[in-house]
Amino acid sequence: MTTCTATPDIARYARTIDASKRVRWDIDRDVIRGRTFDLAHIFLPDGLSLADELPYLAPAEHRFLSQVQGRTYANMFGLVERFIGAKMLEVSRDHWLGNQTALEAIVRFTDEELKHQELFRRLELLAGAHMPVGYRFDVVPNDVATFVLGKCTWAVLALTCHIELFSQSHYRASIDAAEHLSPLFKDVFLFHWKEESQHAIIDELEWEREDSKLTSEVQRDLAVDDLISLVGGVDGILQGQAKADAAYFLSVCGMGWDRARTEQVNATVLKAYRWQYIVSGALEPRFQEALAKLVSAEQSARIQAALGPLSYAVPARTTPH
Ligand SMILES: [Fe+2]
Ligand SMILES: [Fe+2]
Repeated sequence: MTTCTATPDIARYARTIDASKRVRWDIDRDVIRGRTFDLAHIFLPDGLSLADELPYLAPAEHRFLSQVQGRTYANMFGLVERFIGAKMLEVSRDHWLGNQTALEAIVRFTDEELKHQELFRRLELLAGAHMPVGYRFDVVPNDVATFVLGKCTWAVLALTCHIELFSQSHYRASIDAAEHLSPLFKDVFLFHWKEESQHAIIDELEWEREDSKLTSEVQRDLAVDDLISLVGGVDGILQGQAKADAAYFLSVCGMGWDRARTEQVNATVLKAYRWQYIVSGALEPRFQEALAKLVSAEQSARIQAALGPLSYAVPARTTPH
């Protein structure tokens, strides 16, 4: 057991270290285990891909849409983990000569995110070896990281906490229970979820610590502005990738000549991405609770207003995500 000091926060950091040691896994030995993707399997379940909102798709087309979105799902995590790792290294500075338990928790967190990026790069190679040519993921992790890290730490930690909470709720509510899912895809997100559970606790601790440094509501107003701008940046990425993925899907399925279906596929993929990467996290009770502790009613209303145009992006079926 890691030694705990008296303060509750340090005990929470210490518990993440214990859990991190207990669940630690290796990419090849535990996750990939010499396997590759089988295109007979679903990758991303309907509760996330919303592929069931295009009822005219043949079973093979439905499955292919889940694979295109699943490939992007892995790439999106690899993308955000670049800025998450960099920000965590930066906030660890406050603990360098302070509490060594907090420092160790954050160092382990960063090490895990580096491993996750490697895992998602490996998945992209495996998916690329089997899926038809033409898939594109042109978003550059360092470009996104440069934009995100240009915003204040409070806002980056808020976005990070949101991401790490939705990554867990997606696994618990959707991926874990799905049938006929690719065993490799499912294992990747099972093992990822095991380490993300610790990350979300550290995000909350660091976000609260950062919040306590703010000395006026004006500073918090500016931090909320930054968070709204980050959500806008994420949505810009989603619009570009939804367009690329819909075009790839339509071209492989030979459906591009049908204007009505082209529009429906484009709209559904964008709706699915807004659901996956923005709305499902914003609706996550633990995120709402963490945010409500830090912002005023007026600041919360501003965030809700910014999310308003995206709030349509929830599954049409009332199944859990
Ligand atoms: Fe991760
Ligand atoms: Fe993480």
